[in-house]
Amino acid sequence: MRRKPVVLITGASGEMGHGLVSALSQEHDVVALDLKECEPELTKMCRATMVGDILDSKLLERLASEYEIHAIFHLAALLSTRSEFSPEAAHEVNVTGTLNLLKLAVEQERRHSARVKFLFPSSIAAYGVASLAAKRAAGRVREEQCLDPTTMYGCNKLYCEHLGRYYSRHYRQLAADAPPAGVDFRSIRFPGLVSAFTVPSGGTSDYGPEMLHAAAKGEPYDCFVREDARIPFMAMPDAIDALLGLMAAPAEALSSHVYNIGAFNPSAGEFAALVKQAFPGAVIRFSPDVRRQAIVDSWPEDVDDARARRDWGFKSAYDLDRAMSEYLLPNIKKRYARA
Ligand code: SER
Repeated sequence: MRRKPVVLITGASGEMGHGLVSALSQEHDVVALDLKECEPELTKMCRATMVGDILDSKLLERLASEYEIHAIFHLAALLSTRSEFSPEAAHEVNVTGTLNLLKLAVEQERRHSARVKFLFPSSIAAYGVASLAAKRAAGRVREEQCLDPTTMYGCNKLYCEHLGRYYSRHYRQLAADAPPAGVDFRSIRFPGLVSAFTVPSGGTSDYGPEMLHAAAKGEPYDCFVREDARIPFMAMPDAIDALLGLMAAPAEALSSHVYNIGAFNPSAGEFAALVKQAFPGAVIRFSPDVRRQAIVDSWPEDVDDARARRDWGFKSAYDLDRAMSEYLLPNIKKRYARA
């Protein structure tokens, strides 16, 4: 008897998981995996939730035998700031963890004779520019430019993109029983994300969401980058829609495994000004942490997402003004009014 296929989401309790579980569960049976217990409202939307580690091979074997998995959204990762405190542990989670999931995908394909879609959030951290002058000169970077990341997280993401391409096109290429078609690996290099419902932890683009949530709670905020620090950001609903859009794209339309997407790129000072406009009493001070600032300085100030627009019709719905007025502010105000 064929079982109903499921979509597996790792890191389901994290910053992106929240929105993704809600969106995917409307059309798919979702199995959620995370180190932390999922919130009850998310659990209700899932066919099953599991608490566990992507490094636990026994757990992954159990998952593989219990479910027919036809797509994997592999969100679990240690973000860039946290990874710099324990780079080897980050490598283990970010690279070995991804390898484990790619292996699971290959095994599912063998068992069920169907390609498994593997959606992977990569990051602007995959880029690295050598200096502020180089950052300015690079402007909107294309996918193949400036690939010298300075963080363990960035190195991990870039390498995992390559692993995905390998599992997609070259897996066991010399073996007599090499699979006829590889994993259907698709990845997006996300900018910093801003959600009304979740605050990231352990990232370096966190100053954006942190200053907004602090202001909404009436707390002062010490921003760890300079006012002129500039990287691309995106509102969470656009990020979720992009993952769903890339998932839905016909394989023949995709000319690459890796896509930039962009929306807006305010400087930290410009973002702070908008936050203060919305919360007039907000106290936002700038006290840059030289080393975290250096990481932000190594990321591009903007990305060229022409490839995503051309291949699968990506288009962000939220520019910064609309993100603030229609998504972030109404939801954040409601959220902290209730708290
Ligand atoms: N938001 C991530 C971080 O700051 C970048 O992808 O680590």
